[in-house]
Amino acid sequence: MIKVWDYLEEYNLLRKDILEAVDNAFKGGTLIFGPKVKEFEEKFASYCECKYGIGVGNGTDALYVALKGLGIERGDEVITVSNTAVPTVTAIVSAGATPVFVDIDQYSLMDVNQIEKMISKKTKAIIPVHLFGQTCDMDPILKIASMHDLKIIEDCAQSHGALYKGRKAGSLGDVGCFSFYPTKIFGAYGDGGFITTNNEEWYDKMNRLRFFGMERKTMSTGHWNGKYYCVEYGPDTTNSRLDEVHAVILLLKLPYIDQWIDRRREIGEIYKKNLSETELDLPKEAPWNRHGYYIYVVAHSERDKIMQELVENDIHLNISYPWPIHIMEGYKYLGWKDGDLPVTEKRAKTIFSLPMYPTLSDEKIKTTIEVLKELLKKYN
Ligand SMILES: Cc1ncc(COP(=O)(O)O)c(C=O)c1O
Repeated sequence: MIKVWDYLEEYNLLRKDILEAVDNAFKGGTLIFGPKVKEFEEKFASYCECKYGIGVGNGTDALYVALKGLGIERGDEVITVSNTAVPTVTAIVSAGATPVFVDIDQYSLMDVNQIEKMISKKTKAIIPVHLFGQTCDMDPILKIASMHDLKIIEDCAQSHGALYKGRKAGSLGDVGCFSFYPTKIFGAYGDGGFITTNNEEWYDKMNRLRFFGMERKTMSTGHWNGKYYCVEYGPDTTNSRLDEVHAVILLLKLPYIDQWIDRRREIGEIYKKNLSETELDLPKEAPWNRHGYYIYVVAHSERDKIMQELVENDIHLNISYPWPIHIMEGYKYLGWKDGDLPVTEKRAKTIFSLPMYPTLSDEKIKTTIEVLKELLKKYN
């Protein structure tokens, strides 16, 4: 069987080190707010070229805490895309704000030319989603945000290590939000998330907001101590912490991140070389960035039939995402309808993702290409 994503080969590779690190974490005596979380926060923030980092429970929490930390309130509007994972929008709604959507460009990223016309008196922030491993075109977004006094929260859940004009995703806006969901470019062995910023005041505030609004102090041992005293307004706060056990695994994996992104890019090249003559619409790498290929998204008008036949050949693919958020039942109340975001809607009907993860073997890539090419002959 060929899966679109699998962690078991990576686990086989790192099993001994992971089990030893996890054992040490359990023996260390602190399971929450331990020294390894602190060490990871410093190291991953530094990898993202940021001064400050906060490990949280997942990427959705990272977005919620970032929105609250930047002062987003009930009645505010936040501009983002509908072509994203639902949590981008869930976080905006949980923060009490209203999501406002813009369509996407030829790279499936936020169309920066559509942002300004969606700005109203209520607009307070933009969430550019660095989707599939690429970054949005940040210079125009930064310019618009500065002209209209808007905050920028980068949704980097799918773009660890991606480079925009040589600078790291997560260091470009006011705050960066990451997910360590296992499938991600840099994933934990469970849930996890992260916030990056270069602003000390926001860092302090977000650190409190994700811990019931309490102040914490680092002790000489490297452990943290909560004072059981809330400084922040309750409903803006939550409980969201990266566990010590995930921190040790992420610390262990961090040195591999760039070589694994290189391998993803190599797999992307193999697909491109072998599939460019077919009718498949292949992903385009935006000129401003280094694509990390979180997923390799292709498009074809006969998507559903092709995927069905691939399953019959034991090749299991995925669609990210089959439904744009603005026309989902759960978000109907926002008042958007079919036809409002034509590029997003058209893409959702045709896209699917080929197998992509760093330990994917050349043999599995070859089989996927051969089976796919044979099938495509039928649908030309
Ligand atoms: C673009 C995007 N934003 C936010 C999230 C939320 O991350 P998590 O699943 O860790 O809450 C995800 C992950 O699913 C994502 O892909």
